[in-house]
Amino acid sequence: YSLTALNTFGLSSYTDYFFDLTEENQLPSLLALISQHTQYFILGGGSNVVLNQHLKTLVIHNRLKGIYKEDENDDSTLIKAASGEIWHDFVDYCIQQGWYGLENLAFIPGTVGASPVQNIGAYGKEAKDYIHCVEAINLRTGNIQHFSKEDCCFAYRDSIFKQSAQHYLILSVTFKFPKKWQPMLNYADLSRYEGLNEQSSAKEIFDAVIAIRQAKLPNPKQIGNAGSFFKNPIVSAEKYQTLIHQFPQLIAYPQTDGSFKLAAGWLIDQCGWKGKSLGKVGVHDRQALVLVNYGGATADDIKTLAKTIQQDVYTKYDVHLEPEPIFVE
Ligand code: EPU
Repeated sequence: YSLTALNTFGLSSYTDYFFDLTEENQLPSLLALISQHTQYFILGGGSNVVLNQHLKTLVIHNRLKGIYKEDENDDSTLIKAASGEIWHDFVDYCIQQGWYGLENLAFIPGTVGASPVQNIGAYGKEAKDYIHCVEAINLRTGNIQHFSKEDCCFAYRDSIFKQSAQHYLILSVTFKFPKKWQPMLNYADLSRYEGLNEQSSAKEIFDAVIAIRQAKLPNPKQIGNAGSFFKNPIVSAEKYQTLIHQFPQLIAYPQTDGSFKLAAGWLIDQCGWKGKSLGKVGVHDRQALVLVNYGGATADDIKTLAKTIQQDVYTKYDVHLEPEPIFVE
């Protein structure tokens, strides 16, 4: 089974075992199949994965669909979405229905089920701001478990689901949209966006976010990529002081605990990598945090490029960059 069209990086990849999950009533047969395999991997939109060329793992393609209103009161609306729904289409639908909040997270590739796994975030918001609870099947026991927002242990690009790698298959995510809505325009790209202000509607922000992302990030349909390839590294206040002294242009965001989040894109850019290529892969010319596949690349090409960049950043800044995508062997 070829997975080349099922990962946004467009990496050449295939697997010996594949399961297409479209209905929850397939879960018993899926569990039976899993018991015969030592390894399995859940694939959603394939937008945050680096797939090895020949996978021997069972790949479960999650295509569960459905969006329902669970509850509504004077303060908020609860919306449950199946995990295989396409994230951006879900955000679009919510805005159309008047359930506002996810507009800053428009145009992120991937599925609803992936949104809690790495707590997707952009333009000043994170999925966790609206996630109310998550329903998942524990693939080791076969039990369906419910996770409150607290149970999910959300952090920057992290959650219990990312930590307990592949232990759970997320079935649905329930979002809570407060009826009182306010635009969130703190992020630089939005605050300076022509035409946006405190009176802007959720739809206007949604459209602006799409335009900004289209201008900066390569469209996976044209150039293979997995969004930001590295997380923005978090360093201690002490380390930040040393760096800012040496590099006054450094871009850093103070965190509530006193540490600083550095813009990895800036670090990579300063090492001269922006727009550069290494064989079939390279660094996007408008956002150095995004690695791209010019066509025909494999996971090994990406890994080699990533290592070289990590080394350069480490040598110049003494900062370790951690990849964001999940590597599937
Ligand atoms: N910068 C450079 N050169 C570059 C790239 C960035 O100097 O090549 C500078 C920018 O000028 C800016 C700063 O670095 O001052 C930050 O850049 P940007 O606003 O583009 O955001 P980011 O920190 O690089 C993060 C997320 C993105 C998300 C944007 C917008 C991570 C790892 N990435 O990128 O998420 O869309 O903010 O909120 O946190 C993703 O996770 O796949 C992703 C695209």
